Formats: sequence, structure tokens, C-alpha cells
Amino acid sequence: MIRALKKWLIGYKEEARQTEEGRERIASLQKAPLPRHVAIIMDGNGRWAKKRGLPRVAGHRAGMKTVRRITRAADDLGIEALTLYSFSTENWKRPKDEVNYLMGLPEEFLRTDLDELVSRNIRVRMLGEEEGLPEHTLDAIRKFKEATKENTGMILSFALNYGSRAEIIHAIERIIDDMKSGKLSKDVLDESLIGQYLYTADLPDPDLMIRTSGEVRISNFMLWQLAYSELWFTDVQWPDFSKEMFYQAIEDFQRRSRRYGAV
Ligand code: FPP
Repeated sequence: MIRALKKWLIGYKEEARQTEEGRERIASLQKAPLPRHVAIIMDGNGRWAKKRGLPRVAGHRAGMKTVRRITRAADDLGIEALTLYSFSTENWKRPKDEVNYLMGLPEEFLRTDLDELVSRNIRVRMLGEEEGLPEHTLDAIRKFKEATKENTGMILSFALNYGSRAEIIHAIERIIDDMKSGKLSKDVLDESLIGQYLYTADLPDPDLMIRTSGEVRISNFMLWQLAYSELWFTDVQWPDFSKEMFYQAIEDFQRRSRRYGAV
């Protein structure tokens, strides 16, 4: 009962937030094909904080607000899947305090955003290696998965303890195991088989990859899956990345023609 009331209240507040102008903008973007899957390298939190004389974690705190803003924007548009690069296997090299802070974010997000995500019918997932993550982080992820598993709307994936080369190596190891045990025959090795052994097995490949903060590289993110994705870069740091900038990326995507190697 209380949960239903909460849901209604969230829905009501969200509805009120959508202005007439906002609805028109969304309707106009929806006239052309939308990317089914958008993947984002959320970069620049540290530099955003430094510029303001704040500790790096203040940048991540501000970055969380952008996570919420862009999740809402993607969901309102009708994007099927949104994947956010949240912690790479290389990020363990950061100062301990910062790593601890980042590992606490899933719990915080669970506390602050679960009700809204459920009311939006969003499914939450994690892409990455569970091994190595602290128990409290894994626990929050399990709770997210459990609470949203029946949802049928947008799939929101957090790439956590994620490294694309490691993902490919694990996929190959599992394929070899399955071949040795006879579960797979040796003549079935093709692109689609490899895709089925990646963390993203049930997701379409990203149509659009966005990276903020001026770096123009992929940084070991979805190397296999980004083969034909449109790439979009901005100098804006992740905490300042607005809904309008997200729309801009979508519009640019819609203007590009994707030929997949054909003429
Ligand atoms: C890059 O900025 C950002 C990250 C390493 C992590 C960002 C994570 C979030 C904003 C939230 C994730 C949310 C959940 C629920 C897991 P940077 O620190 O590399 O910035 P810099 O390049 O300026 O130093």
C-alpha cells in the first residue's frame, strides 16, 4: 500500500516535471529511428571536482545526479538499453578512499533511486566480474536485480569491475570448456556464438557510444560490441552533461548514415 502510494507520487512528480516543450522535443526526436542501445563512458568527474577545489569524490557525487538525469531522459525517449561504464578493472589503481566511495555508490543508488526505477519499469543489471567486488556492493546489485527482474522496460546496465579484454578472454575460456565437454561442437564458432558468451549476451550491440570530458578513446570498453557503433564525443565533463546534450548526441546519431561496411 505504502509502496503503491510512493509509486503514484513519483509518477505524479515526474509527470509535472515534463513541460509541454519537453514533450514536443521528445516527440520530434522519436520521429526518426532511435538508437536501441546507448553506451556511455562517464568521464571527467575528477577534473570537474578539481576545477572547483573539491575532493574527487565530490565529482562522483555530482556524477550520480547525471546518472539519474540521463537515465530518466533515455527512458522518457524510449531507449531500450542504457549502459554506463561505472568502474573499470583499471580503476582499482585509484586511491583507496576513492575506490571505497565508488564501491558504496550502488548501495546509495539503491536507497535513493530504486522506487523510481521500479515505477519506470526499468531493469537493472551489472556487466563485469563479480569476483573482487566487496560483499556490500554485490549485495546492492543483487537487490537491484531481484527488485527489477520482472520489469519489462529499459535495461539499465552498470559496467562495474568491467574490462572488455577480460570479458573476451572469459568468453573464450567458457567456449573452450563447452567444446571440451561436448556441449558445443567445434564448427559453430562464429560472431553470434562469441556474442552469446559475453556479459551482454541478451542485449543488442550499442548503436551509439558517448564519451564525455574530451578524451577520444575507448578505454577497454565493449571492444567487441562497439564494432559498428556510432561514436560521439564531447568536451563537457560528466557532472555537467545535460539532458539537452544527450538529445544532441541522439540527433547527431540520427543524421549519420550507418552502412555497416557497404556503400
Ligand atoms: C570517471 O571520472 C568516472 C568514474 C570512474 C565513475 C563514475 C561513476 C558514477 C558517476 C556512478 C556510478 C553509479 C553506480 C550506481 C555504480 P574520472 O574520475 O575518471 O574523472 P577524471 O578523468 O576527470 O579523473
